[in-house]
Amino acid sequence: MKTDIPQPIRLEDYRPTPYLIDTVELDFRLDPETTQVFSRLALRPNPASSEANAPLILDGEKLSLVSVKIDGEPLAEGQYRVEAQSLTIGHVPQHPFTLEIETHCNPSANTELSGLYVSGGIFCTQCEAEGFRRITYFYDRPDVMARYTVRIEADQALYPVLLSNGNPRQQSAIGGTCRHFAVWEDPFPKPSYLFALVAGDLGSVHDGITTCSGRPVSLGIYVQKGKEDRCQWAMEAVKASMRWDEERFGREYDLDVFNIVAVPDFNMGAMENKGLNVFNDKYILALPGTATDQDYVNIEAIIAHEYFHNWTGNRITCRDWFQLCLKEGLTVFRDQEFTSDMRSRAVKRITDVKTLRARQFPEDGGPLAHPPRPSAYIEINNFYTPTVYEKGAEICRMMQTLIGPDAFRSAMDLYFERHDGEAATVEDLVSCMADASGRDLSQFFRWYTQAGTPQVVAEGVYDASRKQYTLTLEQRTPPTPGEEEKQPLHIPLGIGLVAQDGEDIPLDLEGLGRLNAPVIELTGRRQSFRFNNVRQRPALSLNRGFTAPIRLESNLAAADQLFLMGHDNDSFNRWEAGQGLGRALMIAACRGPLPEDSLAAYARALRQILEDPAADDAFKALMLGLPSESEIAAAIGSNVDTDAVHAARDGVRARLGKLLADTLSGIWQRTSEPGPYRPDPASTARRALRHASLSLMMLADPDQGTAWAMAELTAPHSMSAEIGALSALVQIERPEREDALDSFHDRHSGEHLLIDKWLLLNAQCIGPEAPLRIERLTRHPDFRWSTPNKVYALFAGFTAGNVPGFNAADGSGYRVVADAILRLDAVNPQVAARIATGFRSCKVLNSIRKSAAEAELNRILAEPSLSRDVFEIVSKIARV
Ligand code: BES
Ligand code: ZN
Repeated sequence: MKTDIPQPIRLEDYRPTPYLIDTVELDFRLDPETTQVFSRLALRPNPASSEANAPLILDGEKLSLVSVKIDGEPLAEGQYRVEAQSLTIGHVPQHPFTLEIETHCNPSANTELSGLYVSGGIFCTQCEAEGFRRITYFYDRPDVMARYTVRIEADQALYPVLLSNGNPRQQSAIGGTCRHFAVWEDPFPKPSYLFALVAGDLGSVHDGITTCSGRPVSLGIYVQKGKEDRCQWAMEAVKASMRWDEERFGREYDLDVFNIVAVPDFNMGAMENKGLNVFNDKYILALPGTATDQDYVNIEAIIAHEYFHNWTGNRITCRDWFQLCLKEGLTVFRDQEFTSDMRSRAVKRITDVKTLRARQFPEDGGPLAHPPRPSAYIEINNFYTPTVYEKGAEICRMMQTLIGPDAFRSAMDLYFERHDGEAATVEDLVSCMADASGRDLSQFFRWYTQAGTPQVVAEGVYDASRKQYTLTLEQRTPPTPGEEEKQPLHIPLGIGLVAQDGEDIPLDLEGLGRLNAPVIELTGRRQSFRFNNVRQRPALSLNRGFTAPIRLESNLAAADQLFLMGHDNDSFNRWEAGQGLGRALMIAACRGPLPEDSLAAYARALRQILEDPAADDAFKALMLGLPSESEIAAAIGSNVDTDAVHAARDGVRARLGKLLADTLSGIWQRTSEPGPYRPDPASTARRALRHASLSLMMLADPDQGTAWAMAELTAPHSMSAEIGALSALVQIERPEREDALDSFHDRHSGEHLLIDKWLLLNAQCIGPEAPLRIERLTRHPDFRWSTPNKVYALFAGFTAGNVPGFNAADGSGYRVVADAILRLDAVNPQVAARIATGFRSCKVLNSIRKSAAEAELNRILAEPSLSRDVFEIVSKIARV
């Protein structure tokens, strides 16, 4: 058992540091085993601090300290104290002074991939959230902003490329040696988490852009040598992002260069270091034969996201890590808007809501629930969560809905004007929204501080004689760990009253008159809205566009839902009606045999959409995607048998596929590839529909489905086609599946990103042997515990993408994942903790599964040297 129980850090304990750091000069002598770091800091007492004469306590971890000097004078041993996590100097001058520190670190021993490490022979850094302290002693917290100058010295032949933040100032050989150096200067004050350094023998592609005020900016993307031809798509995305931020938010880029580096070992997707973004290479590299449509879409979105941080995150940063959603939620909102403008807004909204439901709702309804702005954490790395990111983005979207797009834009301008160069709080952002719109957002603020997904129950009554429609709404947020009582939230709800001809009836709300924006605001626990002049009984279309991240229950009859599925003017709610009906069918199928007529009616409604020549292929594909097994399990809520859920879902899909067989065949014929691969929205949509049809056919008629998939694989048109075919095949247990996976592996054995796809497909393979397959793959020569992408593909692919396998009744799925968590914890605790979140939904399962999962969680907790990261996640899940 872990004896030293880690203590939480609390928001209420925030204090400014007693000293400020104005400038930082860093000098790196790079060497894989012993890198020397010379740091020279200009410090002064912080006028905002109430502590006079306080000791200077800097953060540091896994460093060897060589020397410390103040104003050029070396400190004697008794004048400072080194502990595992800090360097303390008892007495420092109470006026500006210079602190010089020399430390050594070992980048090649850094398997946590935090701080300075080596990936594929390249030196790189990852400092968010607390990695800078593994490079040198520092106030490693975001409210300490300083100007950095960085000198990097390394072997010239091994590391010809030397990069850091800001603008390049100097690069030259060091005479008489095999070494060279470069100097970089970043004119913008920044927190330490945005520091970055890269050195290596990298290939690169270059381009440029002129900003809206006419300043030229050089763009560079650095990758493993030989992969330069895979950077074109990423480069286009950089340029598009820069343009969009100028046009939509009036934000111009501020340095002379913008560089991106792609590395194969990276804990996260990508990182927004000032002027030097570092990416997981799977989010940069793309050619039609190596990347899927989804990869192309992800690359564009993630490049945009990291670029947008330059204003929302870097120029204005976070006061402390509790404010993480200030930068992440807002930047996700901005990248969602970018993708909506670049591609289809309707499709983007639906896919974002799918992600929210698949990731955030389960988190918010389980043991890991926390507010978008948490008030305590043990390990900050555990709080880069769907709640902080996706719910954080939903909150920004709701503010835009409430105050309107024009006021929202003014509020953003005000935010940049007021807080540029500062470390801000969530309150600061919301104040700008309130000030720019004149609206009171104090109740709204609870979205940031209260956890849990609100449930809204809607009941509509039509009074034909008075031509009135009365909508009564009730809100309730279920309790979450540590938060029994919930306050009512301020909930904006898009609304339409749909007439029988499919047209919207004008909204004439009693007390307000005609509504300009079709949005009502629920603020009380229970509230009624009366609409006048409603000429006929309408079908209620509520929470249009998913204006609020809630669970909505309404008394809408199945007939009305079928009608909305075909006729709602709001495409989101057309999809939503289909999801609601599909979910009801599957839950019913878990409980007993389904009546043929309910399925037939659903199939008819689907067919109408699929055969509508005016409808978008991407929308059709989304309509074919029925609610996931985890969503159904969550809706059932307790005593869930995951095998029964899986069988019910596949059963419904198989029967629907049979009823739609002709339509699916038609789609299959019509969507075969006409020419070379193109990642544009229309082609992407066509392939999405093609593969959604294949996936349904695979269950409806496995012979036919397999034949289609194998044909697709014999002469694959693109990586999208290969993955589309294989993803359909993994659903069924047939020898062709194994052959197809083997030949994919052989065909792509030299491509690490494609081997990751192969691992993921294996993790998703349905069948009684699933846990065993995972265990076997951990011993495959292509699997590596130290590469996060491989671990995520295999284990997150299994916990999230193979519900029956992970939740196998004999506990073997849990066991193989628990083994992996224990093994990984010694290598990379951040990654181990992420895998551990896969257990978060086990409370809804039946007792045999629940106790099997609990046994594994307790086995993990019994490990004496367990990291804080895994301890925090597993103890929370095991507690309830
Ligand atoms: N700032 C994060 C990266 C990060 C997260 C670094 C956690 C260290 C710890 C970055 O901006 C980010 O949010 N990346 C996302 C992708 C994005 C498109 C949501 C990621 O890496 O998953
Ligand atoms: Zn981010």
